[in-house]
Amino acid sequence: MLKGKHIILGITGGIAAYKCATLTRLLIKAGAEVQVIMTPNAKQFIQPLTLSTLSGKPVISEFFTANTGQWNSHVDLGLWADALIIAPATASTIGKMANGVADNMLVTTYLSAKAPVFVAPAMDLDMMRHPSTVRNLELLRSYGNHIIEPAEGELASHLIGKGRMEEPENIVKALEAYFATGEDLQGKHVLITAGPTVEKIDPVRYISNFSSGKMGFALAEECASRGAHVTLVAGPVTLKAEHSNIHRVDVTTAQEMHDAVMDALPKSDAVILCAAVADYRVDNVAEKKIKREKDAAPVLHLTPNPDIARAVGQAKRPDQVTVGFALETDNEESNAQGKLERKQLNFIVMNSLRDKNAGFQVDTNKVTIFTDKGEIIKGDCKSKRAVAHDIVDILHKYLSQQ
Ligand code: C5P
Repeated sequence: MLKGKHIILGITGGIAAYKCATLTRLLIKAGAEVQVIMTPNAKQFIQPLTLSTLSGKPVISEFFTANTGQWNSHVDLGLWADALIIAPATASTIGKMANGVADNMLVTTYLSAKAPVFVAPAMDLDMMRHPSTVRNLELLRSYGNHIIEPAEGELASHLIGKGRMEEPENIVKALEAYFATGEDLQGKHVLITAGPTVEKIDPVRYISNFSSGKMGFALAEECASRGAHVTLVAGPVTLKAEHSNIHRVDVTTAQEMHDAVMDALPKSDAVILCAAVADYRVDNVAEKKIKREKDAAPVLHLTPNPDIARAVGQAKRPDQVTVGFALETDNEESNAQGKLERKQLNFIVMNSLRDKNAGFQVDTNKVTIFTDKGEIIKGDCKSKRAVAHDIVDILHKYLSQQ
């Protein structure tokens, strides 16, 4: 799984740094190329010579090499990497990564990297549970970084609790598991809707909703990074699609979104309907800005928009997999089940506005998935990218059964 992969191993100044000799050795044995970057403090715990010998590459620590003046480009390193592992990750480095404090080569490379990032924290139990560390780790999760949770046990301080860096064997396993799903959507076409739709009232005002598009864009990145060709039909959002396999179609209204989706449907193997589509549009859109009247308030005549999910459900071939979303405020389960059936979806992803850190605008989500086979899969609160990973795992299972 790791054969030929370019791995940056970032080592920071904690006692668990001594385990990085084993970690480097295991990565090399698994066939990876390893570039070690150490923070200045890490060198107090383990000799760079040990790591350069094991990795077969000079260890990088400074922005330039003092005796030759050679510049170490964090941008080139960030592009070279297929994955970054920060192990051990101290509270200080986690804080710098979370807040963009790029005062050393490691954090600078982290900020430049496009590859997945794995963070293996190691610290004393009180530091681990300090609200600052908890918040910073939450921020890293929200950026899509993978946190390899520390184990419980005896710590270097002889205190017992959570904070031991995960064993090198398990860090390698986490990386292998990630790369195992790496290309599982190769050759598939996935159509995704994201964001809100906007329906005009007059040339100045509109009806819309609070959808940011973050969940749909996370799904698009996830599918593309697993080898799929993605058509992303996006309502007006400020987000950027990064992956070159994403073909973005920008729309404004529900009708435009409907037309773009029906256009792309025949060539799609899977459709994920993540957009928050306005259920109604204004029938009597004013040509000029509506002025405030003294007595009578203006009356807006609303007419229903097409239900895109339903139209897809009716038009789809048996080999096409469809996934819907349901954002609910009450009667969550029965509403979601009803939509699953009405829209003929294979599965529906439900989030509740009653859950903190789920739904609109935020970077995290907590979902329950209902499948057409009667399964109910409850998830924890995770970054939207991690939720996207779980959803795409289920999608992949459906696609492999078609
Ligand atoms: O709005 P509602 O709760 O019915 O949305 C459930 C699902 O249907 C979502 O997947 C949403 O993207 C989709 N939908 C749609 N077109 C609509 C309304 C909803 O595709 N007009």
